[in-house]
Amino acid sequence: MRPLVVCTALLSGVVSSQLLVPLFRDPRYPTPFRHGDQILMDPAGPGPAIPPSAPSPDDQPGPSGDVMLSDVMGRDRSINLFAGFVRDIESASRRLDDASQNTTVLAPLNSAIEALPRKPWEDPRDYGALGPNAYEGGDGSERAHRNLRRFVEAHMVPLNPWPEGKNAKAIGDDQTIWWEMKDGVRVIQPAGIQVVSIASTVSNGQVWILKGVRNYA
Ligand SMILES: *[C@@H]1O[C@H](CO)[C@@H](O)[C@H](O)[C@H]1NC(C)=O
Repeated sequence: MRPLVVCTALLSGVVSSQLLVPLFRDPRYPTPFRHGDQILMDPAGPGPAIPPSAPSPDDQPGPSGDVMLSDVMGRDRSINLFAGFVRDIESASRRLDDASQNTTVLAPLNSAIEALPRKPWEDPRDYGALGPNAYEGGDGSERAHRNLRRFVEAHMVPLNPWPEGKNAKAIGDDQTIWWEMKDGVRVIQPAGIQVVSIASTVSNGQVWILKGVRNYA
């Protein structure tokens, strides 16, 4: 066991009450994904502040012997909401665990996700077509899951290294995007979303932390 147990106690007191609970206590949404539980039980869970890109004892080698994106996604607490979403989307988790596919993960800060006018799995068109119960029942869960998958994939660029100015498309998304330095800050274009930092560089890609979310609908 790694000394994560201590962090878990801390998390259950701090993160779940301040971050997760408000986000997932939407009465319209039956929380079939159990984000909180997964986050608390994640063995690679967000540990104490670790300098970005520093070697960490939490970086456990994958089957290939290299550290992969799946090993480090849970490392930075400031993006643990997004990391939880990724865990809920099996195809996304698999990709980040795949040594043969590189990915640039554009992980929005928790604060950016919390500031959204709606939850990442909510689509106004669903409410328009189906009313306030759009996400209830089995069909509703599936619908929410589909929407969440679209959100997660819109934040995964199937390419790394990703050179400055090089056109790319996120998974399942038609919009051409690229990044450039603007006044000393890396920004994702054309939306101009600031990259706060490059949190991890591992064998199958990088995790970039974003100040905002992509328009994914
Ligand atoms: C994947 O990333 C690794 C490590 O950054 C790099 O050496 C390799 O060339 C990349 N592969 C592709 C296909 O871009």
